[in-house]
Amino acid sequence: MNQKAFWDRQAEHFQGVMETGDKSRYMHSVIDFLVEMGCLFEDSNILDIGCGTGKYAREFLKHGSRVTGIDLSGRMLEFARQNLETVGSNWSLVEGDWMAMDFKDEWIAAFDLVFASMAPAIRDRTGIERMCRASRRSCFIAKFAERRGVMKQNFREALELSPDDRFGEAISGRQIMAEIQILGFDPEIYHQDYSWERQWTVKKATDRIVSEILLSDPLQTEESLRPRVEQAAREMAGPDGMIHDKVAATALWLYWEV
Ligand SMILES: C[S@@+](CC[C@H](N)C(=O)[O-])C[C@H]1O[C@@H](n2cnc3c(N)ncnc32)[C@H](O)[C@@H]1O
Repeated sequence: MNQKAFWDRQAEHFQGVMETGDKSRYMHSVIDFLVEMGCLFEDSNILDIGCGTGKYAREFLKHGSRVTGIDLSGRMLEFARQNLETVGSNWSLVEGDWMAMDFKDEWIAAFDLVFASMAPAIRDRTGIERMCRASRRSCFIAKFAERRGVMKQNFREALELSPDDRFGEAISGRQIMAEIQILGFDPEIYHQDYSWERQWTVKKATDRIVSEILLSDPLQTEESLRPRVEQAAREMAGPDGMIHDKVAATALWLYWEV
């Protein structure tokens, strides 16, 4: 499964959890940080790479910013459109792969903030170089430095999977930091611990785990995988038929000025 198909499949889930309290608290800590750094002001121009369903873009708009959101997944952008329409019209969305799409002339040094939260789009020096090229002031990346989820760990054990390759992300936060430094910048580094709990139906958990395995292992097929994953999911479910998941994560924030 390629990245686009994977993210199209996740769109509905991401839309469903957009408002949940525990993740929302973390999101507000990102927004508060950006306010503190002077990135969100009336008419500030922001590029949101891998904007997903527009969770952050919506907050940027509420602060009076203009937002351009880029995402690989058309399904994510359909939800983003619905979400952004409720907070104004100072936004545009572009469907495409940040790493491969034509870099528009009007993007050169055009944005006060170039923002990428949990975005697999930023996977090598080129992706970061493009961020720097689009910025006239600040860049911000948030990535998981660590993520320990009970449900995924249980699936890994039940299915005898190799260590977590979350969303096929090929680069760690530490590598990104090194790439930014090689490009001549000195990012400020922050860590944020946060956690969340979630209930999954057997179907939703099966869909999610099947998609993640297909993304990271091209030798697997859905037909052979799905029955095994579904069986494991059934065994994990409680008497109410739900799987209770608890995730503890540490986010790495990298902030630099160009
Ligand atoms: C984990 S979601 C993050 C969404 C949002 N930024 C947030 O923090 O909630 C990752 C998003 O990156 C998008 N994405 C993945 N690879 C991409 C690429 N090469 N170019 C643009 N977007 C990409 C996915 O479609 C998905 O919407």
